[in-house]
Amino acid sequence: MAGNDSSTSDDRGPVRFLVFSASLRVDSLNTRLARLAVSTIEANGGTVDFRPMSDFDTPSFNSDVQDEAGFPPGADLFRECIQTNDAFVISSPEYNASMPGELKNSIDWVSRFSPQPFNEKHGLLLSASPSMAGGNRGLWALRVPFEHLGARIYPDMFSLAQAHQAFDANGGFANAQLQERFEQNIVGFMDLVEASKHYPCVKTRWVEYLGERPDPVTDRVE
Ligand SMILES: Cc1cc2nc3c(=O)[nH]c(=O)nc-3n(C[C@H](O)[C@H](O)[C@H](O)COP(=O)(O)O)c2cc1C
Repeated sequence: MAGNDSSTSDDRGPVRFLVFSASLRVDSLNTRLARLAVSTIEANGGTVDFRPMSDFDTPSFNSDVQDEAGFPPGADLFRECIQTNDAFVISSPEYNASMPGELKNSIDWVSRFSPQPFNEKHGLLLSASPSMAGGNRGLWALRVPFEHLGARIYPDMFSLAQAHQAFDANGGFANAQLQERFEQNIVGFMDLVEASKHYPCVKTRWVEYLGERPDPVTDRVE
């Protein structure tokens, strides 16, 4: 199967990253963390497409609606942003030890496109929470649908604990050690995406059900 269009070894331009916070809240801690990801990526030579979650928000998934009216604008834009960038970075709140419903809903909508755009895309997951675990359980939950869809989720995830106290007056990290660990995490991810873009060597097929016979009801194999 062919890879995504943006992942060709001929394209030597800067590596493009979609960055967004999965919180719709105006004063979101995750949006602050996402902004730090933006500045870190740009400081290290990457190009950033920074979006608010409101761009990707969607009505509750319903295949009847999809059949009758097609995809909502939020799903279409999310698909386009995944396809036109080389990789994605999400800073997501943890809701009840999992991901926010609006993020999962948007992922579900986008997963219905063919070709399925998350396949072979590199992703980095971040979280921020006032809790001591920093929302890390939510990222483990978020990893599952993405990996199911063939995304290559970076092994290291960054979860900012006690996030309500973690930022300084300029929006940076109050703690220098945390700042260093964050930068290492982001730059490690950037290196992997750049290597994958310029020197692609692993190709996988996304197959939802092995041994499946062609059937329009379940046929999502690419
Ligand atoms: C419905 C709901 C469930 C939550 N569940 C958790 C949780 O399981 N773990 C956690 O660390 N924080 C939880 N929180 C607190 C959020 O981490 C906190 O509100 C955080 O600021 C949300 O992210 P944001 O600031 O980016 O909007 C929950 C908040 C809400 C509204």
